Amino acid sequence: MKHLLSIADLSRDELFELLKLAEKLKEERYKGIVTDYLKNKSLAMIFELPSTRTRVSFEVAMSDLGGHALYLGWNELQLGRGEPIKDTARVLSRYVHAVMMRVRDHSTIKEFAKHSMVPVINGLSNLEHPCQILADLLTIYEYRGDFRDVTLAWVGDGNNVCNSMILASALTGMKMVISTPENYEPNAKIVEKAKEMGGKILFVRDPKKAVEEADVIYTDVWTSMGQEDEKNRRLADFRGYQVSDDLLKLSKDDVVVMHCMPAHRGEEITDEVIEGKHSIIFDQAENRLHAQKAVLLKLMGREDEIY
Ligand code: CP
Ligand code: NVA
Repeated sequence: MKHLLSIADLSRDELFELLKLAEKLKEERYKGIVTDYLKNKSLAMIFELPSTRTRVSFEVAMSDLGGHALYLGWNELQLGRGEPIKDTARVLSRYVHAVMMRVRDHSTIKEFAKHSMVPVINGLSNLEHPCQILADLLTIYEYRGDFRDVTLAWVGDGNNVCNSMILASALTGMKMVISTPENYEPNAKIVEKAKEMGGKILFVRDPKKAVEEADVIYTDVWTSMGQEDEKNRRLADFRGYQVSDDLLKLSKDDVVVMHCMPAHRGEEITDEVIEGKHSIIFDQAENRLHAQKAVLLKLMGREDEIY
């Protein structure tokens, strides 16, 4: 793994190594073991869009591992005044050991990675959110113990998080049932790729049917960052796709509910479900920290020290 722009940048073995490493790092943090696996290493974090979890978990991950993180808002950089991405990539590569980026358009991070001499990590683009999905897989593994017998029902928008989950389901053997309104399906090329990888992916228009066999129900906002102009149309189009107690009643008794957050309570998910006994969303959010530490170590650390 040179960069992490997509879940598809990982082989099955690399994915499971990351999860194993994340588990170990989580345990170390719980035990209060202090490590400096990334001593003298710096991570640049470029944000073209806002963030709570990604920003804080990456920054704390670097500090926990003895390294340093720099928060760089797009408009505070010369990028905001039009400096070419390829120039920024080459300059930053001479200062830092890795770059994490949150961008509006996936082509921006691809262009950056093409010219970067150091690893580039996708902290969300319009196409994928691989770091989120690594944390989600760690969470699913903690609650279910395996992936092979797990059915994940995706209810709502076939967005960036959904795209990465589709690729992850193909790598892990998890079955995915996708329920979106018409015209909000996930990226067709990603679905095709996942199917070529042996992914078990089913499309079920009716969310009530989609959740029947689910072990995990996952939802995300109906209006992602950058789509604010479409909000009213989306609110109308997604009616009937809310994850509510009524929907959960149609699923397994022990189903768990996931959401990458931030959640819009009352839209894609109800307040009751978030606060209810099926919700594991705060564990999910915590696992961003542990999973990303594994990514950072894999890309920047010395493996002989870690394993
Ligand atoms: N889930 C997620 O990426 O959250 P932030 O937008 O707060 O980083
Ligand atoms: N799909 C959401 C995820 C936020 C973490 C968005 O892109 O805004």
